[in-house]
Amino acid sequence: GSYRIAVLPGDGIGNEVTRGAIEILKTIETRFGHQFAFEFGLIGGAAIDQKGTPLPDETLAICRESDAVLLGAVGGPKWDRNPAHLRPEKGLLQIRKEMNLFANLRPVKFYDSLTDSSPLKKEVIQGVDLLIVRELTGGLYFGKPSGRIVENGEEKAVDTLLYKKEEIQRIVKTAFELARKRKKKVTSVDKANVLESSRMWREITEEIAQDFPDVTLEHMLVDNAAMQLIRSPQQFDVIVTENMFGDILSDEASMLTGSLGMLPSASLSASGPSLYEPVHGSAPDIAGQNKANPIAAILSAAMMLRLSFGLAKEADAVEKAVQQVLAAGLRTADIAQKGHRAVSTEEMVNEIKAV
Ligand code: NAI
Ligand code: MG
Repeated sequence: GSYRIAVLPGDGIGNEVTRGAIEILKTIETRFGHQFAFEFGLIGGAAIDQKGTPLPDETLAICRESDAVLLGAVGGPKWDRNPAHLRPEKGLLQIRKEMNLFANLRPVKFYDSLTDSSPLKKEVIQGVDLLIVRELTGGLYFGKPSGRIVENGEEKAVDTLLYKKEEIQRIVKTAFELARKRKKKVTSVDKANVLESSRMWREITEEIAQDFPDVTLEHMLVDNAAMQLIRSPQQFDVIVTENMFGDILSDEASMLTGSLGMLPSASLSASGPSLYEPVHGSAPDIAGQNKANPIAAILSAAMMLRLSFGLAKEADAVEKAVQQVLAAGLRTADIAQKGHRAVSTEEMVNEIKAV
């Protein structure tokens, strides 16, 4: 088929890793007979420098007209002292809101060939293949009222954890649909022993589960989930949870394998194109040195093929190529272990292309 891909490289290694991902997409295009049209847009610090705003209207227009968006990373020391509305990270928050990106998906997969990079024992981490599905546009981070109040001369701060029924339904349904294509298990994480919003979350999850008799549902309290992720991460397939719980658990889970440069993500839209980006940032310490690990960006592109374009065979081919190259001992500096020569970003991309 024919697909339009908006590419927002952003800052720092965002440029290097998206370039790598595009090369892999071009290889897939040729090999499987598709047509990918790449349209480039500015975001983050690069956009501030050239357009005076972290998310220019042109960029948003390119994204809206695309079938999917591939993003690198934003930020860097150059803009760290800017006021809030001129910070690169503001561009990310804005694009999530503007594009209605309600579901953040972060797969965490363990690679046998990377045993030494995990902080956990091999027996605990081996075979881990889980997916965190975080609600991204509701909950504690968006509920009103939020702010400072003065009552009886006393200053207080308030944040509100609020969910509409439909918001819970769509994220939970997404999680079940994803689980159906995986190990068919959903762990819904909440704090139902304390929070009313969690009790409603549980009720709705039970209702949605009726439509997925082939998928096993379990509920887990968030404090226990935080512990179980370290104690026995192999028990999980799909974890679905509200915004703040998901923020914390997804960062925790991302460290299980110990390799930031390997972790892709997707943010699914409720209304238009979805967005794909590596979990890592712009890595100013290694930017422009041809050292960055492109695998997180390449696996993000694979998620795009699978989830936005329905190209499962093509996504499998990319993921297999990554696995083979790792198994053959190829390593960028961030994942290099004893006995490996660290290769450059470009060498890594070329080897993955060649599989
Ligand atoms: P970071 O993820 O950029 O870097 C953390 C460490 O991991 C650094 O030592 C870096 O060299 C290394 N690293 C990250 N990705 C790598 C890769 N692909 N290959 C090899 N090594 C890699 O996080 P940091 O340093 O906290 O933030 C740097 C900038 O990135 C900040 O401006 C921050 O706001 C921004 N940031 C942006 C994100 C995004 O665009 N989604 C996410 C996280 C941070
Ligand atoms: Mg976070």
